[in-house]
Amino acid sequence: MSLADKDRIFTNVYGFQPWNLKAAQARGDWDDTKDLMKRGQDAIIEEIKASGLRGRGGAGFPTGLKWSFMPKEPRADRPSFLVINADESEPGSCKDREIIRHDPHKLIEGALIAGFAMRARAAYIYIRGEFIREAETLFAAVQEAYDAGLLGKNAAKSGYDFDVFVHRGAGAYICGEETAMIESLEGKKGQPRLKPPFPAGAGLYGCPTTVNNVESIAVVPTILRRSAAWFASFGRENNKGTKLFQISGHVNKPCVVEEEMSIPFRELIDKHCGGIRGGWDNLLAVIPGGSSVPLVPAAEIMDCPMDFDGLKAVGSGLGTAAAIVMDKSTDVVQAISRISYFYKHESCGQCTPCREGTGWMWRVMERLRTGDAAIEEIDTLFDVTKQVEGHTICALGDAAAWPIQGLIKHFRPEIERRIRENGGALEAAE
Ligand code: NAI
Ligand code: SF4
Repeated sequence: MSLADKDRIFTNVYGFQPWNLKAAQARGDWDDTKDLMKRGQDAIIEEIKASGLRGRGGAGFPTGLKWSFMPKEPRADRPSFLVINADESEPGSCKDREIIRHDPHKLIEGALIAGFAMRARAAYIYIRGEFIREAETLFAAVQEAYDAGLLGKNAAKSGYDFDVFVHRGAGAYICGEETAMIESLEGKKGQPRLKPPFPAGAGLYGCPTTVNNVESIAVVPTILRRSAAWFASFGRENNKGTKLFQISGHVNKPCVVEEEMSIPFRELIDKHCGGIRGGWDNLLAVIPGGSSVPLVPAAEIMDCPMDFDGLKAVGSGLGTAAAIVMDKSTDVVQAISRISYFYKHESCGQCTPCREGTGWMWRVMERLRTGDAAIEEIDTLFDVTKQVEGHTICALGDAAAWPIQGLIKHFRPEIERRIRENGGALEAAE
C-alpha cells in the first residue's frame, strides 16, 4: 500500500516549483473550473459525499454532509459564508502551512468551488498570526486570482460572483476552534460558542456558515477532476482518500508527505522518514494525530493503519495525522507535562473545568515529573481528567485531558518509579 506519484494531489508540496498562478496552471489548477461548476451545486455536493472525504482538520466530520446542511436558497439579507480554517496551531501539525506556502491556488480554486456548491457569497480564510510569510503568499495568490478574473464578479467566467478575504489571526490557539474563529472574525474576543447551534444554522454574523480545514478544501478541485471513485479507491471503508501526514520527532528524516490513508505506521516511517532514529527497537511511543490525542506505545502502533478507525482501535485518534515520534531517550512524563502546560496557557478561561482543570492538571504533572508526589495522586489526576473530559464548551478540555490519560494508561510504572526514587515525598511529609 503506497501512493504513486501520479496520484498525488499536492504535487508541489515541497516547493520545487513556484507557487504562482502561471506555475499552478501548468500543474493543472484552474483548468476549466467553470466546467466543474457547470455540473451544478447539488451534483458537486453529492460527488464530495461519494468520495468519502472526511474533514482534515482533526475531527473527521464527512465534508459533503457538512456542506449539505447549508440552505439551498439563502435569503438576500442572510447570505451564506465559507470560513476556511488556516489557523493550524496544534503542536505537531504543519501541513496547511505547506499547502499555503507552495500550492495556494489549490486552496483558492477549492474555495470558489466549495463556496459555489454551498451557495456561499464569500470565503474568509483565517490564517494563523505567526504565519507571516505564508500570509504574504496567500494575499498575493488571491490578488493574482482576482487579476485573472478567477475571483470576484463572474468568477472564472462561471456566472457566479464570489469573493475571498484573507484574515490574519493574532496568535491565540483557541481561535482555531471554529466558533471562536467566527467570533474573532466578527471582531470579538476569540472564545468558543456553545454548540448547537452549529455554524450551518447560525455562524458568521449569525448567517449560515461552513468552517472547513485548508486541506479539506484544497483537495476538492482534484476530486472533481479525477472523480469521487478515484479518491475513494485509496484507504479503506470509512477512511478514504489520500492524506498529508506530518512526521516529526525521532525519525531519521522528518517530513510532510502525501500518502494513502490507512498506510501502516511502520511502512509510512520506513518509506518516507528513513526509519526510527536508532532502529525500530529504539521506539518508545507515538502521539499519532497532533498533541490532542493520546500517545500509543511502540508495540501497538507499529502495524496500526494510520486512519480514523485504526488509531481509534488503539485508544487514540488520527487527528490531523501529525505523528510525533518519541524514541527511548524521551522523558515521556516531561513531554506530556509540556503539552499540559500548552493547554493551560491556551485555555480561553471561559468555562471552569478547563480554566481551573488545565492549570491543576499541569501542576500535578510537574510534580509527577519530578517525583514530588504521592502514588495515590496518579489516580486523583486520572479522575480529574475524567471530570474535565466532556464537561467543557469546546474540545480544548478534552485535548488537555486525553494525553494525560494516555500517559497514565501506558506509563504508570514509570511515574511510580519516579515517585519511589524520590522517596514518596508527599507520603513522607504526612
Ligand atoms: P467537532 O466534532 O465538534 O466538529 C467537527 C465539525 O463537524 C465541525 O465543523 C462541526 O460544526 C461539525 N458538526 C459536528 N456535529 C454536527 C452536527 N450535528 N450538525 C452540524 N455540524 C456538525 O470537532 P471540533 O471541535 O470542530 O474539532 C476538534 C478537533 O480539532 C480535534 O479532534 C483536533 O484533532 C482538531 N484540532 C486541530 C487543530 C489544528 O491545528 N488543525 C488544533 C486543535 C484541534
Ligand atoms: Fe475556553 Fe477551555 Fe472552555 Fe474551550 S474548554 S471554551 S478553551 S475554557
